[in-house]
Amino acid sequence: MSKGNVYIETFGCQMNIADTERVTARLRTADYEISDKAETADVILFNTCSVRARAEQKVFNRIGEIKKSRGASEPIIGIMGCVAQLEGEALFSDGAGVRIVAGTRATDRLPDLIGRALFGEKRVLDLGDRSEDEEWDVPVVGRHSPYVAYIPIVEGCNKFCTYCIVPFSRGREQSRTPAEIIDEINKLRDVGYREVQLIGQNVNSYRPKTEAGLEGFCGATPFSRLLRAAAATKMPRIKFTTSFPRDFHPDIVSAMDEHENLCDWVHLPVQSGSDRILRAMRRGYKVADYLLRIETIKNAKRRYSLTTDIIVGFPGETSEDFEATLQLIEHCRYDAIYSFKYSERPGTSAAGLGDGVSDNEKATRFLALEQLQRRIQKKLYGDYVGREVSVLVDRQSAKSKSDMSGHTTCNKVVNFPGGEELKGQIVSIRVSEAKANSLYGELV
Ligand code: SAH
Ligand code: SF4
Ligand code: F3S
Repeated sequence: MSKGNVYIETFGCQMNIADTERVTARLRTADYEISDKAETADVILFNTCSVRARAEQKVFNRIGEIKKSRGASEPIIGIMGCVAQLEGEALFSDGAGVRIVAGTRATDRLPDLIGRALFGEKRVLDLGDRSEDEEWDVPVVGRHSPYVAYIPIVEGCNKFCTYCIVPFSRGREQSRTPAEIIDEINKLRDVGYREVQLIGQNVNSYRPKTEAGLEGFCGATPFSRLLRAAAATKMPRIKFTTSFPRDFHPDIVSAMDEHENLCDWVHLPVQSGSDRILRAMRRGYKVADYLLRIETIKNAKRRYSLTTDIIVGFPGETSEDFEATLQLIEHCRYDAIYSFKYSERPGTSAAGLGDGVSDNEKATRFLALEQLQRRIQKKLYGDYVGREVSVLVDRQSAKSKSDMSGHTTCNKVVNFPGGEELKGQIVSIRVSEAKANSLYGELV
């Protein structure tokens, strides 16, 4: 018999999606039902993100909305993830009626925590570490997609960039063993998964305690050895994100060159094009070091698509610093950039630095960045017209019922006329049109 009905809403990065998958699986095993309806669930869990103030605010808005729609039938509300880890006990007393607070490493214990709340406990708190024998494998039914799987390989961060809350919410880096990761890829391949994404706050900082499972694979770093071992599983597509520039060894590119199933996409967040700002951010590299990595990528055997993250308006960023960022973007010609206005995070070392850039100025710089990128992307996407791309079809297009949608190996969205029967297949599409952030084409 079901112990209760749980609805989970997930915010933030792939790591949170992967955590939600694990919680879902644990809950099912413990006889809970997973519901897709917030209106009727006994328990509503929010898996939260704290990376910027706006991300953090989202969960409180959602709690408000849900409470209003539920009226007198009050669900048990739980907060997990990064906001839970950072705010802890304080979340019980902020008026939202939160009853469960479970930190980023409490995923395995959620069935028990929920059970206690259902039993009547008013404040259930767990900010503890993972248990030594925690199982990371997620049964296939618990995953967000039947074709693409996220596989966490390293969790946490030791870098402490001055603006960033992640080392506080996710704790120190912990790598999973290669044997476990390879085993998971093999299992996913055997049940029909076509793509895996190796994920971590910094995947290439991967440093496991043992290298059992990597015997016979060479490489300059544990991560490049893992990539070669992953490629040998013959999983059709392997992507990885996010790469940290300082730890981006050229051997990663060599491994990609050697194995076609290591996909042609690198996400390498630069944050700023000014050495002064990079130093203030404590990123651990200079623009010239970063450009050396880019050069290796551009000189590779295949063309690798390149994406980045940029922060505008870091405290003290002058218009010259910002100009340097624009120049860097012009030089690197990214396939996409994810830009963010600097958001002060309490507890980080940049908090209280003062000398902040005004909101107005941040908005102006943000727009200038977007404009420049739109121009670069227009040309870059335009170059795909007439070419054939390989697309893993994963859903119906959001815009048209007669179109299907999927991703290329270089992680671009492609839409094309087609039916549901193509879902899960890797098809060849001839590109006929380039849109601002996607491609359109026909089945070959
Ligand atoms: N580990 C990755 C980034 C993880 S966080 C790296 O170091 O590259 C994802 C992105 O959020 C960052 O790349 C950064 O661009 C943005 N970000 C993080 N903290 C931020 C803050 N306080 N304000 C604005 N953007 C931030
Ligand atoms: Fe944050 Fe820096 Fe760690 Fe990335 S490397 S998660 S930006 S502290
Ligand atoms: Fe957000 Fe936590 Fe990911 S702060 S970006 S959910 S690691």
